[in-house]
Amino acid sequence: MELVRLPRYAVRITDELPAWGDLGLSHQISKVVVLVDDHTSEHCLPLLPADWPVDEVITIRPGEEYKNLETCRGLWSSLLDMQADRHALLINLGGGVIGDMGGFVASTYKRGIRFMQMPTTLLSQVDASVGGKLGIDHHGLKNVIGTFQDPVHIVACTRFLETLPFEQLRSGFAEVLKHGLIADRQYWESLKNTDLHNTYDWQDIIARSVCIKREVVEEDPYERGKRKVLNFGHTIGHAIETWMLTEADEPLLHGEAIAIGMICEAWLSVKDAGMSEKALTDITQVIRKYFPATQFDPSIYDALYNLMKQDKKNDSEGIRFSLLREPGDCGFDYMVSEEDVKGALEYYNNP
Ligand SMILES: NC(=O)c1ccc[n+]([C@@H]2O[C@H](COP(=O)([O-])OP(=O)(O)OC[C@H]3O[C@@H](n4cnc5c(N)ncnc54)[C@H](O)[C@@H]3O)[C@@H](O)[C@H]2O)c1
Repeated sequence: MELVRLPRYAVRITDELPAWGDLGLSHQISKVVVLVDDHTSEHCLPLLPADWPVDEVITIRPGEEYKNLETCRGLWSSLLDMQADRHALLINLGGGVIGDMGGFVASTYKRGIRFMQMPTTLLSQVDASVGGKLGIDHHGLKNVIGTFQDPVHIVACTRFLETLPFEQLRSGFAEVLKHGLIADRQYWESLKNTDLHNTYDWQDIIARSVCIKREVVEEDPYERGKRKVLNFGHTIGHAIETWMLTEADEPLLHGEAIAIGMICEAWLSVKDAGMSEKALTDITQVIRKYFPATQFDPSIYDALYNLMKQDKKNDSEGIRFSLLREPGDCGFDYMVSEEDVKGALEYYNNP
């Protein structure tokens, strides 16, 4: 078991779920409510130790398409129906969708009740559950409504990963690779030969990634500066994710889109942030080893560029990128021209 401490809570990374008494929750708790989706209800809920005092379970449909106001309305109503008061604790047992939405519902119900994050996907264990960002999608835009609020505790148990479909595991691994690239060259080197198909000791990887995210969010909790390095690969990746979902009708998982974005933004890193060509070749080969290539017709480059311009992280001056000075060292707020963005997409097609 590893415990990573943040100022107001700790992340417990463990191979076995702890007994309730070992969680160290000292607050008065009137009711314990667990939020799951259909998949985590089947695979994760049965793993909770028998001494956990669960009073109620709320189950929702799985998937990003349910991360919206309609589902929140149902959740607030359920909490009211079960007479949850301000001392109730909501345990979000699921991937990033459950964590983001359950946290948002908890942070707004009766002006805020306590919640605990129990991330069950690799992506949510290394990324979504840490950092206090909560929210839902609205009008086709991702995470546009939300709050910043810390959980009382995070429990990331590697046993949950045993039932996770391979593509979901690999999607989370894209964020792990990103952590190495933006902050720790040695970590990046150590990740190059990870065998995702075999059982793996995930505890060390999750702990290292959580530490990297902690360092970044502690320095800049509200994304005014340094936190932007976490967006490496995401400016182009998000545009591709949205385009594939809304225009191509061939949705990619988040990490699959970010893997493409990281290759493109590594090319921009050579052009605009001084990274070496050798590092670009290395990054491209490693990411391609895990994520097979997709081809994008050049006729969609304009549409992708327009999607990037709509990203809520931009300001009136143009599109800003987080780029690598070298593997393990990332800067932010690089202004990049439209021509270079298209050059990066072209590089992805023909490295
Ligand atoms: N708050 C943040 O800082 C932050 C950061 C990154 C991503 N996110 C958000 O996270 C979400 C994506 O998270 P995700 O990739 O975890 O997706 P997800 O929550 O949709 O989970 C993926 C799928 O795996 C299933 N699943 C979860 N755990 C399982 C398990 N142990 N065994 C079997 N199946 C399981 C889920 O039911 C779902 O079908 C997005 O909404 C994204 O916006 C938030």
